[in-house]
Amino acid sequence: MTPFDIASINKRFSEAEHSYGKPIFYLEETSSTNDEAAILARAGASHGTVVIADHQRKARGRGGKPWYSEPNTNLAFSLVLRPRVPITHLPAITLVMGLAVAEAVETFVDVPAGIKWPNDVLLRGRKVSGILVESSLSQDRCEYVIAGMGINVLQRSFPSAIEARATSIVLETHRTVTREEVLWQVIMRLALRLESFESGALPELMAEVAKRDEVRGRKVQVGDVQGVADGIDQSGELRVILTGRVQTVRAGEVTFVD
Ligand code: BTN
Repeated sequence: MTPFDIASINKRFSEAEHSYGKPIFYLEETSSTNDEAAILARAGASHGTVVIADHQRKARGRGGKPWYSEPNTNLAFSLVLRPRVPITHLPAITLVMGLAVAEAVETFVDVPAGIKWPNDVLLRGRKVSGILVESSLSQDRCEYVIAGMGINVLQRSFPSAIEARATSIVLETHRTVTREEVLWQVIMRLALRLESFESGALPELMAEVAKRDEVRGRKVQVGDVQGVADGIDQSGELRVILTGRVQTVRAGEVTFVD
C-alpha cells in the first residue's frame, strides 16, 4: 500500500470553502493522532486543524482499548475542534460525527451505514469506523475537543479476534476507492453536520442519527444495565427499558445479548 497522498489533499482542502483541514498535518508514524492533535490544540491550533498518520504505534479507542489498523491502508486522523455550542450539547458531538462518517462512507459502498451508540459506524452489522472524542473542559467552558477517527478503507483481512465484527469500505463495494477520496468526503460531511450542530439544529441531527440507530429495539448490556434499547435522547444518552422503567446511560460499551 502506498503512503497517503498529502500533496493532493492539501491542495483540495486549501481551495475548499469550509475551514476544515486548514491546516492538515501528515505524519508517517506517530503514537496517536489524538495526542498529536491535543498538543497542537494546547498550543492554540485553530478549529478544523487535522492530523493524519499512516501508522499509529499506540492508537486507542474508547475506554483505552487498543485500536488496530493496518499501516498505510486505512484512515486514522484527528480534528481539533472548538465548537460554539452550549456545553450541554457537547456529549452529542460523537453521534454528530458518527452521522457524518456514516453518510460519507455510504457514498462508496453498496449497503446502508448504521450507527451503533455511542461511537461506531457499521456496515452489515460490522464495524467500519470508530470515533474517539476527547474534550478539555475548564469549569463550564470547553477549551477544545479532539475528535479522532479510524476508518477501515482498504484493509481486506482482520485479526481473528475481530474478523467477525470488522469490515472495510473495499470489502463492501464494487467501486475503486482511495483513502484520499474517503477523507475528502468525510471532511465535507463533517463540515456540513458541524455547521448545523453549531447553528442549533441538534433535534434535526438526532432525528437523522435515529434513522441509522442499529441498537434500538435490541436487547443490550451496557455496564451493569441490561434491557431493551429504546433510542437515543437529545443529549446523546442511550435509553434502556428495564422491567417497568426507563434508564438513560451516558457512556459505555453496548453488547448485544440477543
Ligand atoms: C473506538 O472504536 O473505540 C474508537 C477508535 C478511534 C481510533 C482513532 S484512529 C485516530 C485516532 N487516534 C487514536 O489513537 N484513536 C483515534
